[in-house]
Amino acid sequence: MCGIIGFTGDNVPAVPILVDGLKKLEYRGYDSAGVAYFKDNKIEITKSKGRLTVLEDLLKTKKGTDGTVGIGHTRWATHGEPSDINSHPHISNSGLFAVVHNGIIENYATLKEELKEKGCNFLSDTDTEVIAHLLETSYDGDFISTVKKAASRLEGSYALGILCKENPGQIVCVRRSSPLIIGVGTDGNYIASDITAILTHTRKIYQLDDGEMALLTPKKVTIFDEDGKEIAKKVEKVTWDVAAAEKGGYEHFMIKEIMEQPHVLAETISPRIASDGSINLDGIDFTKEQLKKVNRIYILACGSAYHVGVVGKYVIEKLTSIPVEIDLASEFRYRNPLVDSNSMVIIISQSGETADTLAALREAKTKGARIISIVNTVGSSIARESDDVLYTWAGPEISVATTKAYSTQLSLVYLFAIYVANKLNKIGDAEVKKLLSELNALPDKISEILKLAPQIETLANRYAYLEHAYFIGRNLDYAVALEASLKLKEISYIHSEAYAAGELKHGTISLIEKGTFVVGLCCCERLVDKTVSNIREVKARGAEVLALAVEGNDAVAKEADRTLYIPSTHEIFMPSLEVVPMQLLGYYIAKARNCDIDKPRNLAKSVTVE
Ligand code: G6P
Repeated sequence: MCGIIGFTGDNVPAVPILVDGLKKLEYRGYDSAGVAYFKDNKIEITKSKGRLTVLEDLLKTKKGTDGTVGIGHTRWATHGEPSDINSHPHISNSGLFAVVHNGIIENYATLKEELKEKGCNFLSDTDTEVIAHLLETSYDGDFISTVKKAASRLEGSYALGILCKENPGQIVCVRRSSPLIIGVGTDGNYIASDITAILTHTRKIYQLDDGEMALLTPKKVTIFDEDGKEIAKKVEKVTWDVAAAEKGGYEHFMIKEIMEQPHVLAETISPRIASDGSINLDGIDFTKEQLKKVNRIYILACGSAYHVGVVGKYVIEKLTSIPVEIDLASEFRYRNPLVDSNSMVIIISQSGETADTLAALREAKTKGARIISIVNTVGSSIARESDDVLYTWAGPEISVATTKAYSTQLSLVYLFAIYVANKLNKIGDAEVKKLLSELNALPDKISEILKLAPQIETLANRYAYLEHAYFIGRNLDYAVALEASLKLKEISYIHSEAYAAGELKHGTISLIEKGTFVVGLCCCERLVDKTVSNIREVKARGAEVLALAVEGNDAVAKEADRTLYIPSTHEIFMPSLEVVPMQLLGYYIAKARNCDIDKPRNLAKSVTVE
């Protein structure tokens, strides 16, 4: 979603740094972009709707863009359509304050009325413009105390980067429920909503906590708590590789990230299996008595992370016999869920910042549940607010459509399920050993499957111009169908749906006609015959069927038009293998259709608003 970058330096022009940082944030999804910088002791704004190239062309037409302090923003519209005027930064009427904002100001309408009465003139439809005017009308001659006063009036979520005309060379930033970091560089200091924006300049960062503010000058970063008291914070060192955040020779981040899966899966699994065969969940420990008290496990997540949860329900229930409810975070938060202190809640999120998931976490926490999160972004809000965190060591995921995060999340769900089942004596040590050995073998099996890429690319050219797709499967095959269908639709814009194969007869089969594309997932050995019957039914109505089956199963190929084969593994781990050819299918179909694969229209990598 929206992205923030800011820089104040010594003798270094800020605008190129801002534009470069915004490029690194492009993957989050945006519809407009802008920068604010100092020119002749005044704040100058350049902003426009559209891609960053539009902003760059506009900046080339301007003189005096060599100032050494500035803030920049990529906007993903929430209040007001994407337009030049609604783009950030927003500036107060006399030009005293300029502001960039991520998040949503929930009481903006009330504040707007109040500010209008005070004579403020609003130019945009955004909630953010309220902040610029609020700063100007609150100005008391001191930058920090003015920001503190204005921020105390804001309800909702915000990460703000602010310039003040009276304080050239300074940036003030503040956050609440929206991520913001500070980078400490050699030529100056940075603010950013995301580490990737500043990684080429510095690896030394401060993570701001809710309510904290900071004053940046080229040489110094001063951090304040909510009450305006100066505080000492520890500088953290980012260990991410810059190359890991770049394409490394691949045409798209998505295919690079698909190909990285064997490696990141091994990184996530191996260190958690001790040499004596026991599972080490990063120090998370439950006694048998604690686990016996758990009456229900809730898995809460959005998007693909939710689909990991659907697999999780089947697997955890099968291994532990504890009932599992899987809920979309956006539904859970408003349905007064029956969570209590005997519930265990698993939160799954790549970014750790998804607004609905964070709200669901907070809802569950107030009801006394123990919260375990599976998160990729270290230090993210979800990680910090959970009782226990299991990090997926997938590295930065740039493509909006998730692949390696999904796979690593799944591997942690498996480990967790095996750990709990063993603690509860539902499975013995011998079974644990067998399962862990299969789990350890997944990266190599995925490497084998990735060799199907050329074959899948050829197939994809055949299906690229179809208008509809249906993915069917039963049990864990159905759980994968959900993800396979989302992958295809979000990047190729082909209408696609996933159905539990047994549900076809209850309506969807009426949509099947000559040439309708159906993907039949047939890897759940126990139920293959049933799904094959469903394939027969759609074939009889003219469907063009691509099947996915386990090597050696010839029955499927007899019914489908084409069949892709994957290696065998233990039933519960099949989703990890099945999803890979489905990711490749979505990717190559989108490529054949010439889609903007890494930045699909209207989507954002990190959905930090409701
Ligand atoms: C967005 C992304 C999805 C992701 C979902 C949840 O919609 O495009 O790929 O699954 O958010 O994000 P999270 O960061 O919480 O996993």
